[in-house]
This record gives sequence, C-alpha cells and structure tokens, in this order.
Amino acid sequence: MWCPKKLQLPSCLSSFSYTLAFLIFIPLVLVLVLVCTLGPQSSYVLSFSSSSWTWRSVGLLRSLTSYEEKDQHLQVVGLVTFNNSAKDSFSNRPGEGVEDIWKDEMNEGEKHRNETTGIVKRYNRLERVEAILAKARSSIREAARNGSMISNHEDPDYVPQGPIYRNTNAFHRSYLEMEKKFKIYVYEEGELPIFHNGPCRSIYSTEGRFIYEMEKGNMYRTKNPDEALVYFLPFSVVVMVRYLYVSGGPDSRHVIGRTVADYIHVISSRHSFWNTSLGADHFMLSCHDWGPHTTSYVPHLFNNSIRVLCNANTTEGFNPQKDVSLPEINLKTDDTIGIIGGPSPSRRSILAFFAGGLHGAIRNNLMQQWKGKDQDVLVYEELPSGESYESMLKNSKFCLCPSGYEVASPRVVEAIYAECVPVLISDGYVPPFSDVLNWNAFSVKVAVEDIPNIKKILMSISQTQYLRMQRRVKQVQRHFVMNGPSKRFDLFHMIVHSIWLRRLNIRV
Ligand SMILES: *[C@@H]1O[C@H](CO)[C@@H](O)[C@H](O)[C@H]1NC(C)=O
Ligand SMILES: *[C@@H]1O[C@H](CO)[C@@H](O)[C@H](O)[C@H]1NC(C)=O
Ligand SMILES: *[C@@H]1O[C@H](CO)[C@@H](O)[C@H](O)[C@H]1NC(C)=O
Ligand SMILES: *[C@@H]1O[C@H](CO)[C@@H](O)[C@H](O)[C@H]1NC(C)=O
Ligand SMILES: *[C@@H]1O[C@H](CO)[C@@H](O)[C@H](O)[C@H]1NC(C)=O
Ligand SMILES: *[C@@H]1O[C@H](CO)[C@@H](O)[C@H](O)[C@H]1NC(C)=O
Repeated sequence: MWCPKKLQLPSCLSSFSYTLAFLIFIPLVLVLVLVCTLGPQSSYVLSFSSSSWTWRSVGLLRSLTSYEEKDQHLQVVGLVTFNNSAKDSFSNRPGEGVEDIWKDEMNEGEKHRNETTGIVKRYNRLERVEAILAKARSSIREAARNGSMISNHEDPDYVPQGPIYRNTNAFHRSYLEMEKKFKIYVYEEGELPIFHNGPCRSIYSTEGRFIYEMEKGNMYRTKNPDEALVYFLPFSVVVMVRYLYVSGGPDSRHVIGRTVADYIHVISSRHSFWNTSLGADHFMLSCHDWGPHTTSYVPHLFNNSIRVLCNANTTEGFNPQKDVSLPEINLKTDDTIGIIGGPSPSRRSILAFFAGGLHGAIRNNLMQQWKGKDQDVLVYEELPSGESYESMLKNSKFCLCPSGYEVASPRVVEAIYAECVPVLISDGYVPPFSDVLNWNAFSVKVAVEDIPNIKKILMSISQTQYLRMQRRVKQVQRHFVMNGPSKRFDLFHMIVHSIWLRRLNIRV
C-alpha cells in the first residue's frame, strides 16, 4: 500500500529508526572518513534500504493536545481579506535573503521605484506576494483575450490545443507562470506516519503520491516560508483512518477531525501565516471519502482554505471556486506502464461497460435498470469468470463511471487510460481540472434520472462525433498520468496548477 522505492524518502523511517539511523550513521561516517584517508584503495558504497517504519503509539497526539479544549479560538469570521494595516508586523527582517528572492521582480523596477521621488520602496511580504500574483493574473488575462484553438506560446514539451481546453492560450500562459513563480511552503510540524506520508497505492494513491512529491521537494517547494505563495498542511486522512480510527468506538470519526484541529492550532500558534489570511492561502489534500468531513472541525479550513479533495461533492460544501477536485486513481503497482492504451475504436465491440460493487444509490439504480438486461450495455456486479476487467475496458466504446459511496470514481481515470470515453453518472460532482478542461469534449454526462436512457443517449452519438471524443480522450491522458519523477503537464503538475489558479483567484 505504500510508496514505491523510487519515491521513497528518508523520512519514511519513523523517528525511532531515524534516531537509530543517526546513532549508526555518525560512527559509520567517522569510520569511513578514517578508512578513506588511511586506505585510499578501498571504496565503499553506502546503501540504505529503508526499513519499514513502525507505528509509535499516539505519542504525537498527546504532544499536540497539550492545550485545553480548542473551539473557542476557532470562531467563524466572515469574508477573508488580508488586513493591510496589519502588514507591518510581517515586514521583512533585515538580512534574510530578500534581495535574492526578489531580484527577478526588482529588475523590472517600475513597481518598486517611484519615478518622481526616486525612492525605491522595499515591499513587505504581503505586498510582494500581491505584486507577484497581480502580475501573473494580468498576463493570464491578456492571454485569455487572445484565445485560439492552439496556444501561441512556445513550449518544447507540449503545446495545448483543441477543444479539450476551455482556453488553450490562457491555460498555457497560466501554466508557464506557475512554473516560474509558484512557491509552496510545506509545514515541517507533525510526525510520521500521519504527517508527511501517505498511501502511494490503492484507491487513495493520489493522496500519497502528491504528499511524496511535495516532500521530495524539488518542485515548487520552498524552504523559506516568507517566500511562499501558498502553505501546505501535509497530513494524510487515509493514514489517520488507518491508525486513529477505531470502528464503532464512541469517538470513532471525531478523533480524526480533532487531530486536524490540533494540527492547525499548532501551525497557527507557531507561525504567523495562518492568522494573517485565516487559512485562505493554505491547502490540504485528501482522497479519502472522509476528507471533507475532517476539514469541518476547523471552520476556517472548511470555509477559507483550498481543499484538494477526491470527494468533490458540492452538496457537502465543495466549492469549485476555492476547492480543487482531485482525481481518484486506483494504482495497484508503482507503474502505469501497461495500463495505458487500448485498441482503436473499430476494434471495440462493446457499447458500454460497468463492473463494480453495489455501493450507494446511483449504482443501485444502474444495476436495477441494466444488470443482465442488455447485450450492448454490459453492467456487472461481478465479472463472469474468465473475463478481465482491463480487457473489458479496452474493448468498450464507452465506460460507465457512476458515483459510489462518494461522488468520485476511479473509473473515470481508468477509462481515460484505456482510451474508452468516460460516461459520468453523478450528482453534484465537479470533475477534476474542470477549471481548464472542457469535459464535454471528451466525456458524456448522464444525469441520474436519465439512467434508463443510457443506451438511447449513447446510440445517438454519431460515429464521427465518437471518433473525435475518443481521440481527445487520448490527448487528455497526459494530464492524468502519474510519473515518478513527475513530468511537465502530468497529474502532479495539473493538481498544483489547480491550486495555483485558486490562489490567484482567477478563472481561465
Ligand atoms: C487590522 O489590523 C490593525 C492593526 O493590527 C487593527 O487595529 C485593525 O482592527 C485590523 N482591522 C481589521 C478589519 O481586522
Ligand atoms: C510617488 O511619490 C509621490 C510623492 O510622494 C506620490 O504623490 C505619487 O503618487 C507616487 N507615485 C507612485 C506611482 O506611487
Ligand atoms: C495575441 O495575438 C497576437 C496576434 O496573433 C500576437 O501578436 C500577440 O503577441 C498575442 N498576445 C499574447 C499575450 O499572446
Ligand atoms: C493566532 O491566533 C490565535 C487565536 O486567535 C492565537 O492564539 C495565536 O497565538 C495566534 N498566532 C500567532 C502566531 O500570533
Ligand atoms: C462556513 O461558513 C458558513 C457561513 O458563514 C457557516 O454557516 C458554516 O458553519 C461554516 N462551516 C463550517 C464547517 O464551520
Ligand atoms: C453528496 O452529498 C450529499 C449530501 O451529504 C449526499 O446526500 C450524497 O449522497 C452525496 N453523494 C454521494 C455520491 O455520496
């Protein structure tokens, strides 16, 4: 269930084995130094096989809970605005590498230099951040006005084009701006395994993969919180459910919400950033069904922060203007090689396919209408023996993706990987990357009340239209692929891009 070797971090060790590693490591280095200086012929290779970590009781909870009952300091405050009169308290302290960070912006001068008086103003943190964001916004807006079917920006890797995008040019401009300017600070507070760690396989893999990618720290991450445009709260709801949740206990789910509340309390008392924005420039990420519920223990987290969630259910408070819909991908191995691709449309003999458990009302409805009733719309609770799920996907023209116990379904990405046109059957679900992708171009939406009409709806799509959609499914694949290490325009970058757009508070 855990991260592949190539993604494995030194921090995968628990603090216990960490200390142990240190105790062994330091003498080892000393010995090595001696050996190297005394015996120049010998060469040593240190290989660290990361030992599996062990769960160390709930020690961290006690250390975090060492304050009296929360809640009173978590009152709801209205709309979030940065208090500009409070900004002086966040001015730069001298000699903190400010010049370095801002060299780039400083070169452009005009923002900082008053031409009449000749006075060069040093921006404080909030002013600098706002200046960067404002500049990015205006360049994206300009690109948006210039929208065309193909982006007019140059790019060695990929040039967005065609109707799968809402606006090719604005997306590309925004993506390039993000690469240049976006800086994410990852809070260091919190102990393994609940923090800085997550599942890299299973249905919740996107949660772990994202956390690992952030923790590895070579993309977007900054170690200087004053330089960050956004702050990441690196906890894993999936791991909390695994270690803190006791099924049926009197407290069952509360312990998870309280852990999150404790964490925010620690963050907000140690750093100024949370209080300054009341959480608006902070984000959390979870693929677990309970992700949204967990955030409700901290009103500012729920109402102000960017919540990156697989369970993007608008009836449960998911707000597409500030929250991000995270794809759910059921990764069983470390690689996506072999899962991606499929036969051409002419070799797909099945009109529509679904197989899966009877989870929730929508699936119930689907099963009642279609299970075992049609030769073209194949709906199974359990696949007939001898049939493989993957080959069914690859032999189908359309793949049905009904919501289960939560709105998101891993089938959406499975369909995209198998080059099968996804059919979204859900209520109140915001599909991933809707901020830049035009889902109508490469998927079909069927309202829950139209489940009986699925066949009619799919049959009414002309062959030409189908071929177009299927081609676009192949085109959009790159945005849903998780690479290790990450590649431009892939899933990791797209998630970061959605966060970037929320931080800019702009629509493309
Ligand atoms: C803004 O901050 C100043 C100084 O800290 C404070 O006096 C004022 O009440 C704050 N205003 C708002 C709207 O919070
Ligand atoms: C430059 O300074 C003058 C005098 O303080 C002020 O009136 C003017 O608004 C300033 N210009 C800018 C662009 O801030
Ligand atoms: C907008 O389009 C025109 C003509 O194609 C081009 O000259 C200009 O540079 C474009 N502007 C942006 C911001 O892409
Ligand atoms: C943030 O606000 C909380 C409650 O209002 C307060 O207890 C905490 O000390 C503040 N944090 C900082 C860093 O000032
Ligand atoms: C979010 O804000 C609304 C309106 O201010 C409030 O009614 C609601 O309780 C808040 N949500 C949470 C989880 O606190
Ligand atoms: C979305 O949220 C609503 C309100 O809580 C709930 O009734 C519905 O079942 C949820 N949808 C799914 C598919 O879980």
